[in-house]
Amino acid sequence: MSLTCGIDIGGTKIAGGVVDEQGTILEELRVESPASSEEAIETAVAGLVQELRTRHEVTAVGVGAAGYVDRSRSVVMFAPNIAWRDVAMRADLEQRVDLPVVIENDANAAAWGEFRFGAGHDVDDLLLVTVGTGVGGGLVLGGRLYRGAFGVGAEIGHMRVVPHGILCGCGNRGCFEQYGSGTALVRDARAAASGGSLLARGVLDRAGGDPEAITGPLITEAARAGDPFAVEQLAEIGRWLGEGIASLTAVLDPAVVVVGGGVSEAGDLLLNPVRAAFAAQLTGRGHRPSLEIRKARLGNRAGLIGAADLARI
Ligand code: BGC
Ligand code: NA
Ligand code: ZN
Repeated sequence: MSLTCGIDIGGTKIAGGVVDEQGTILEELRVESPASSEEAIETAVAGLVQELRTRHEVTAVGVGAAGYVDRSRSVVMFAPNIAWRDVAMRADLEQRVDLPVVIENDANAAAWGEFRFGAGHDVDDLLLVTVGTGVGGGLVLGGRLYRGAFGVGAEIGHMRVVPHGILCGCGNRGCFEQYGSGTALVRDARAAASGGSLLARGVLDRAGGDPEAITGPLITEAARAGDPFAVEQLAEIGRWLGEGIASLTAVLDPAVVVVGGGVSEAGDLLLNPVRAAFAAQLTGRGHRPSLEIRKARLGNRAGLIGAADLARI
C-alpha cells in the first residue's frame, strides 16, 4: 500500500495528511498559516511532512496552493490573495524534504479529490467551485484533470461579472470572487453592521458588538438559527454563484457541479439559492438536460486528499 502526503495551504491554516490509495486520511495535522513570507510557509509545510514521516512511510508529496501553478506543477507563478510571485515551490520543498513533490492549484486538487473519492465519483465531467477566501475552480473533463495550455485553466474566480466592479486581489475589477466568495460575504455583513443597519443587529450582537469580529462561520451559525439577515447574506452569495455556474455550464456542460470550500459548510442555506439562480439563468433551460449541483462530500479535506492522490500520477 503506497502512502502519500497531501498538503493544503489555506489563507488561515496549513493542513497536512497521510493518505492511502483509497483516499483515506490516516493522520492529519494542522498549523496556523504564517502569512508573513513564502519562506515561512515552506518551512511550515516541510515541518508537517517531516513530522508525518516519522510515523508513516510516504513516497511523495502533493501540495495544493491557492494560485496559478505552471504546467510542470513546479512554480507558483502568481496568487491574487497570497504574496506568491514566481515561487519555485517544488524545487524548494524537494530540497527540504528529500521526496518527490508536485504543486497543484488548490481547487484543481479539490476537484480531483471529489472526482476520485467524493461527490463526483459517478461522473466523468465535473466542475468544482470552492467558496472561501477566493472563488476557485477545478475541472475534470472526460475523466482527466484539465489544466489548460499553461497550467492556469479554470481560474473561474477571475471572470469579470461586473464591469468596473469591485477591485480584486488580481488587480482587475469586477471579478466573480469579489461577489461570490466568503470574503464578499464577510465584507458585506461587516459593512452593513458598521453602517448601523438594523437588519444586521442580530449578527452584530453575536460578534459582541464588533463588526470586525463578524466571520463566515458566525454568519452561517446565525443563519442556521434563523437570523433573516444572515440567511439573506448567504443567499446573495449563492445567487452570484448560481448565475456564474450557469454561464460556465454554457461553455463546459459538466454532468455535476460540486460546491466546496469553507462557505459550503452552510449547506442548503447556500446551495438552494445557488440552485435557484442557476435554474433561472441556464441558457436553453427546459430544453436541455439540467445538472446536479452537489455539496462537496470531502468537505474542506478535498484539496488535501486530491493533492495526495495527484502526487502518485
Ligand atoms: C485563486 C485561485 C484559487 C482560488 C481558491 C483564487 O483567488 O486565483 O488560484 O484556486 O482563489 O483558493
Ligand atoms: Na483551478
Ligand atoms: Zn480577480
